[in-house]
Amino acid sequence: MGLRLGDTAPDFTADTTDGSINFHSWLGDSWGVLFSHPKDFTPVCTTELGRVAKLKAQFDKRNVKVIGLSVDPVTSHVQWEKDIEETQGEAVNFPMIGDADRKVSDLYDMIHPNANDTMTVRSVFVIGPDKKVKLMITYPASTGRNFDEILRVIDSLQLTAKFKVATPVDWKDGDDVIIGGAVTDDEAKTLFPNGWKTVKPYLRVVPQPNK
Ligand code: BEZ
Repeated sequence: MGLRLGDTAPDFTADTTDGSINFHSWLGDSWGVLFSHPKDFTPVCTTELGRVAKLKAQFDKRNVKVIGLSVDPVTSHVQWEKDIEETQGEAVNFPMIGDADRKVSDLYDMIHPNANDTMTVRSVFVIGPDKKVKLMITYPASTGRNFDEILRVIDSLQLTAKFKVATPVDWKDGDDVIIGGAVTDDEAKTLFPNGWKTVKPYLRVVPQPNK
C-alpha cells in the first residue's frame, strides 16, 4: 500500500550533492520538504530548482529543510546545478539526492508507470518534526509547481499543529481562521477570550491566534 498522510516518512540513506545523508538524522527536529523532479537538464525542472533556491530564507524562517531528488546520479546534478545558477540567478542551496537505483523513488512511490515508467513525477512531501507525512502533492512533468503554495500549506500545518484551528479556503498567514470542529463553545471562550464570529454553529471565525 502507498504512503498516506499520518504515516511515518520512510527513512533512507542516500547519496546527495552534500554527501551521504540519512534522512531522519538529517531532518533532526526540523520540518522537511522532500520533492522529486523528473529529469536533470530539463526546462521546467530548471526553473523549479532555481525558485526553491530563491525561497531558502522562507524555508529557513519556518524551520524547514528542503531536499530534492531525481533518478539521475549526483554527478549529473552537480553539472546541471551550474546551468541552474547561470539561468535562474541563484545557486542551488539544498541537497539533491541522486537516486539512480530508485531506492527512494520506490519508497515514496514517485514513479507512476502509467505517466512514465522511468522518470519520477513531481512529488512533494511535507514531513513534520515527528517524521510523519503531513502533505503529499503530485504534479505531472509538464506542470511546474507553485512553491508559494507549499509555503502557504506549511504555514497552515504549523499553525494548526499549535492551535485548535483550521484554515479556510485560500487562507494566507495573517487571515482569519476557523475554530476546530471538536472545540465546544465553552472551550472556545477560554481559547479565544476576545470572541469569535459564529456564521453557522459549525463555522466559527476568529482572528489568527498568534498574530
Ligand atoms: C521539464 O522539466 O521541462 C520536463 C521534464 C520531464 C518531462 C517533461 C518536461
